[in-house]
Amino acid sequence: MATHEEALKAVYKPSAEFQKNAHVSSMEKYREMHKQSVEDPDTFWGNIAKDFYWKTAPEGKVLDYNFNVSKGKIEIKWFEGAVTNICYNVLDRNVKDRGLGDRIAFYWEGNDPDDSAKYTYGELLKLVCKFANVLKSQGVKKGDRVAIYMPMIIELVVAMLACARIGAVHSIVFAGFSSESLAGRILDAKCEMLITTDGVYRGTKLINLKEISDGAMAKCKENAFSVKKCIVVRHLGDPVNGTDDKTSSPAAKRPCKNLRTPWNPDKDMWWHELMTDVSEECEPEWMGAEEPLFMLYTSGSTGKPKGVLHTTGGYMLYTATTFKYTFDYHPDDIYHCTADIGWITGHSYVVYGPMANAATSVMFEGVPTYPDAGRFWEYVDKYKINQFYTAPTAIRSLMKFGDSFVTKHSRASLKVLGTVGEPINPEAWVWYHKVVGDGRCPVVDTFWQTETGGHVVTPLPGCTPAKPGAACFPFFGVVPAIIDESTGKEIDGPGEGYLVFKQPWPGIMRTVYGDHERFERTYFSKFPGYYVTGDGCRRDADGYYWITGRIDDMLNVSGHLLSTAEIESSLVEHPSIAEAAVVSHPHKVKGESTYCFVTLKDGTAFNDDLVSELKDQVRKTIGPFAKPDYIQNAPALPKTRSGKIMRRVLRKIACNDRDFGDISTLADPSVVELLLENRPNIGDV
Ligand code: WTA
Repeated sequence: MATHEEALKAVYKPSAEFQKNAHVSSMEKYREMHKQSVEDPDTFWGNIAKDFYWKTAPEGKVLDYNFNVSKGKIEIKWFEGAVTNICYNVLDRNVKDRGLGDRIAFYWEGNDPDDSAKYTYGELLKLVCKFANVLKSQGVKKGDRVAIYMPMIIELVVAMLACARIGAVHSIVFAGFSSESLAGRILDAKCEMLITTDGVYRGTKLINLKEISDGAMAKCKENAFSVKKCIVVRHLGDPVNGTDDKTSSPAAKRPCKNLRTPWNPDKDMWWHELMTDVSEECEPEWMGAEEPLFMLYTSGSTGKPKGVLHTTGGYMLYTATTFKYTFDYHPDDIYHCTADIGWITGHSYVVYGPMANAATSVMFEGVPTYPDAGRFWEYVDKYKINQFYTAPTAIRSLMKFGDSFVTKHSRASLKVLGTVGEPINPEAWVWYHKVVGDGRCPVVDTFWQTETGGHVVTPLPGCTPAKPGAACFPFFGVVPAIIDESTGKEIDGPGEGYLVFKQPWPGIMRTVYGDHERFERTYFSKFPGYYVTGDGCRRDADGYYWITGRIDDMLNVSGHLLSTAEIESSLVEHPSIAEAAVVSHPHKVKGESTYCFVTLKDGTAFNDDLVSELKDQVRKTIGPFAKPDYIQNAPALPKTRSGKIMRRVLRKIACNDRDFGDISTLADPSVVELLLENRPNIGDV
């Protein structure tokens, strides 16, 4: 029996039994496939493309790109000239070409354990065609941007696929963002159509999404932009109209929960009313492989979110291929990803990747601790889930409740466990492997980003000897390197530095919506010739990649990326605040937490009321998930003589760590002592 210390450092090999059926069952085979994928992408991806339906198939050379800013415009093109439609590929191809219309696409598990539904591929195809026709009848055309602000209900999947079917670009905004954030995203993309929902329960908490949407539409108006139409799914019911049994929307038949929905008859329309008397046939819009599929905003270090734009052909192949290999998915497996579709993980691994493989998935509306901390494992048994994919922060929060919430459920169906979103500490990795997976299931720690579209560094469950905490090796098509910041050169062998990629894989983003120059500056200017992830990374003597976390001005709180600049600009909007500086502070459950230093304007007092007002301010401007953890009064901030805030010093102060290194460049070194004295008591976090 290994000691706990040994378990954290051990290497975990897949069992011979697991390997027997795995798509990639040896490191030799992985290396061979990886070599071909990067040296001969035309053959490797060209062969994979044959599994898909193309109106005009890709031929010969599949990749064309320039990664070097000094050689001109950054450009990435996969399958240029080929024509397809991703909605056709995830629905019609499965239903009509492969005869899988009766296969369940989604088991839907509601917030309340007794609320559930299921949808076959055939049913979804009809719903999507109908809603695509609704969008068309409302004037939505190819290339138009459609904002979607919805909870985890099937209509969200229907809405996004309907957009993809008609060539409209969906811009999904996680339904935890504030009306201000939603408005900012609608304005940036000029979305004239918004699709939302009356409301949703997360655990016991009711969120009135239509009210938030109305706030966002009002803010757009203040900025001289008008959202012309708003389609609303009736999910919780309406006390005025009751529930309408004649509707064709499955969600509308759910029991009325008495939510009052604010209504503007000039632009608001009920989803279920629009869905009556609509044709179930809708010819897809045939899209060039490089035409846009969707945009998704991610935090940017300047504070203004970036609209990451993905295109059609490459994204389709990449999400499908990563899904198949990283989770070792086989037909008849039941797969589940806990992520919300509002984040990239939900786009790629709740919707597009699984559906491209005709997978059966479980979609979950609720939260892991409602009604109790055993919820995940209860429905793992209910649906006999084989592949389970979640975030380290969820694992760490469940560890705190004790093993019995896990062990009282069987979990015998589990085969592969995955994590995503932030570095996983070996302690949590080993608990996941040992307690959740009974020591039987390979754990895949998948590193990737909104920008990468799909997994880029990850173990493969049937072959990689996994080390707890390591993202291990590059996926097919990916060529990582580590760059030393001081020399700007690649490090050979073991070492630590900036994680970069040397050539494009099919799922990489193509531009920042409306600002290609920002795309070039953010990802390609620091080290010309390389895509820069913004993450630090260590390569060990065995060639394993270990992601060490962000090395730019970004925080990763519970797997959500936040920009320090965005939080700072929210804080200084408060009338009492003159200046703010936000840094990351380690947190046992959330990974990182936000620690804010605020300098008050003369004549204002620092007290508990101000602290809660400031927390509330950030909650309102960004969203509840961004609410700061700690706020410290900072009569002054440590600045260099040129006025630059030394965040490195603030990070140390936040941790009460006096090992500052060289602070001789500070304009006023006495500030440091003052801030240390002013630290709030934040206990053991
Ligand atoms: C972090 C989420 C370590 C990383 C898919 C990255 C990770 C950012 C991992 C992207 C992992 C994601 N190990 N760090 N396995 N996965 N990250 O855009 O800092 O929401 O740059 O995409 O999350 O977050 P995003």
